[in-house]
Amino acid sequence: SAAEKLSICCIGAGYVGGPTMAMIAKQCPDIRVTVVDINQARIDAWNSDKLPIYEPGLQEVVEEARGRNLFFSTNVAESIRDAQMIFISVNTPTKTYGIGAGRAANLEFVERCARMIAEHSDSGHKIIVEKSTLPVRTAEAVKRILASSARPGVSFDVLSNPEFLAEGTAVEDLLAPDRVLIGGESRDAVQTLVDVYGRWVPRAQILTTNLWSSELSKLTANAFLAQRVSSINAISALCEATEADVDEVASAIGTDSRIGPKFLKASVGFGGSCFQKDILNLVYLCEHFGLPEVAAYWEQVVQMNDYQKQRFTRRIVKTMFNTVSNKRIAVWGFAFKKDTNDTRESAAIYVCRDLLEERAQLTIYDPKVGLEQIKSELAYVMQNDPSRYGGDFEKLIDENVTVADSALAAAEGAHGVALLTEWDEFKELDYKKVYDAMQKPAFLFDGRNLLQHSNLTELGFEVHAIGKLC
Ligand code: UDX
Ligand code: UDX
Ligand code: ADP
Repeated sequence: SAAEKLSICCIGAGYVGGPTMAMIAKQCPDIRVTVVDINQARIDAWNSDKLPIYEPGLQEVVEEARGRNLFFSTNVAESIRDAQMIFISVNTPTKTYGIGAGRAANLEFVERCARMIAEHSDSGHKIIVEKSTLPVRTAEAVKRILASSARPGVSFDVLSNPEFLAEGTAVEDLLAPDRVLIGGESRDAVQTLVDVYGRWVPRAQILTTNLWSSELSKLTANAFLAQRVSSINAISALCEATEADVDEVASAIGTDSRIGPKFLKASVGFGGSCFQKDILNLVYLCEHFGLPEVAAYWEQVVQMNDYQKQRFTRRIVKTMFNTVSNKRIAVWGFAFKKDTNDTRESAAIYVCRDLLEERAQLTIYDPKVGLEQIKSELAYVMQNDPSRYGGDFEKLIDENVTVADSALAAAEGAHGVALLTEWDEFKELDYKKVYDAMQKPAFLFDGRNLLQHSNLTELGFEVHAIGKLC
């Protein structure tokens, strides 16, 4: 079959491109897969035994295929030339300037890819696959750029194949996806990609749609998922006011098959590179197409999430006698969820920022995140409004943020602990030791409802959780 001679190039070796291509290469030993990136350090890391991203099981998948039919390179031009199928998997951050700033997707990297593909494709037919999350109708722009700058005799098809993997479970999700979605106009092109995934994904789970449905489904899926988290978080605030328990409410409603049990965990707020970005992108699109009511509806999901993060910090300050100034607070977890080293849009950034504004001293422990990454995330969100932090936010960060090499060490001498990421290891600590190490009263704020609160209360902790009394 055609797929047997296929050579694939993927532009962008990030959280999406890297793991996805490693899985394709693992499952299809006869397809040559080259992942390219302009970032030399990132490519070097993919070629080393310390991969640039942490994902359970990823190292094994990469090692099985790397050097056999999986290659990481910075030679973008050559890889484009040699491939029949090219995935675009570059970053599409929120625009920070100009029209749509703070909402619209910045498509400059995608456009640059399309132009590079046109420039370096010197013969035959190529299938271009949008893997990055993109606003609906982006394929139209990609097609026009390709068509207007293509060399004579070169032709392109454009497919949309959004990735639904979640970080921390990327390998599992890629091995057994709920579905693979492929949108396109050319039946042959769609079939070529169906044949790739068909090597390990049951056919019934490979959905094919028109291009625009595929593009829009990605934004919609993330908006619905984020909406569930904001919905349960909204109810958590009401629980705290009424003595209902949000986890009990969640399991009670989750048994309704129309609602379902997943993604109903109340928390300090959702984070990650996708949810907020994709919703804001959806909001921008709705406004662009003259649908302000629809835009306002979805924007509430992000506003509720901001509220949840602020509410958590305010609760800490209020509980600790209305001041955390010069008190040490241990922060457990900085990643946006467990089993990842990714901190993009993590709720911890905003909680720590607001605690620093209150002049708290933070000792942070995350098993996968180091001091430099933490400092740079904090500086990034504080630079917008330095006056809030007495002007010199970098000094505030330098003087008040340290890291510890264990959860226990972070708690040593602390007035309070804020648990912000649900790492498994936090469930297995010796809480007697933690309690003894802390100042009294020993406040513990469980931003993930992760721990056995009654046991902690018995040990002497004053526990505060999300959406319940402890
Ligand atoms: C609802 C709840 O389903 C039920 O659990 C509760 O006890 C009472 O309220 P009901 O109002 O009888 O039941 O009907 P339901 O099937 O939920 O439909 C409610 C409305 O939503 C209807 O107008 C229905 O047409 C509409 N609907 C439902 C949609 O427009 N789209 C859907 O996907 C589902
Ligand atoms: C998400 C989508 O799940 C995935 O399909 C898409 O491809 C990319 O965006 P990801 O951001 O990696 O994946 O992680 P996800 O598991 O969805 O968690 C997002 C955030 O929501 C995390 O901060 C998580 O802690 C939070 N969350 C999730 C909750 O607070 N409660 C929940 O019940 C679920
Ligand atoms: P995602 O989470 O969507 O995978 P990342 O930011 O982790 O996003 O990865 C995107 C990658 O794309 C980055 O490593 C970046 O260097 C790379 N990239 C962006 N533009 C280009 C380009 N024009 N050519 C090659 N690589 C690019």
